[in-house]
Amino acid sequence: MSSDPRELYQQVIIEHNKKPRNFGKLDPCTHHADGQNPLCGDELQLTLNIRDGRIEDVKFEGHGCAIDVASASLMTGAVKGKSVEEAEKMAEQFRSMVRGELDPSTDANLLGKLTLFQGVKDLPVRVKCAVLPWATLHSALKGEETVSTE
Ligand code: FES
Repeated sequence: MSSDPRELYQQVIIEHNKKPRNFGKLDPCTHHADGQNPLCGDELQLTLNIRDGRIEDVKFEGHGCAIDVASASLMTGAVKGKSVEEAEKMAEQFRSMVRGELDPSTDANLLGKLTLFQGVKDLPVRVKCAVLPWATLHSALKGEETVSTE
């Protein structure tokens, strides 16, 4: 793996797009939501099992671009085992980061390797792609069943 952040970002996107983690559907599940990016029509279905305020398991399926799939793959890995509060905080911080409102090098955050996506802030049309999984997670946690990134 490269130490150049841009190259590392490319490698991670390619790798997670080729072999997405947590791909599939939980059945039964306690929470679910469908998300759509109206700009391209891509969709994502998220299913979760939450017990005692903690995300025990989470999976996604659907179709999207490489950034969307890689973001969903990394997101599901990052929130599994976390409390609902922590996952909500991460969703909020991720959205702020890709909109350029949070600088992970100076602002405290829970994002860990998700900070790889910070370069998306310079690619406005890709922001919705990266955010779609997180917007869908937020809806599922709130008990809403559909969300659009519009
Ligand atoms: Fe559709 Fe990225 S182009 S989610």
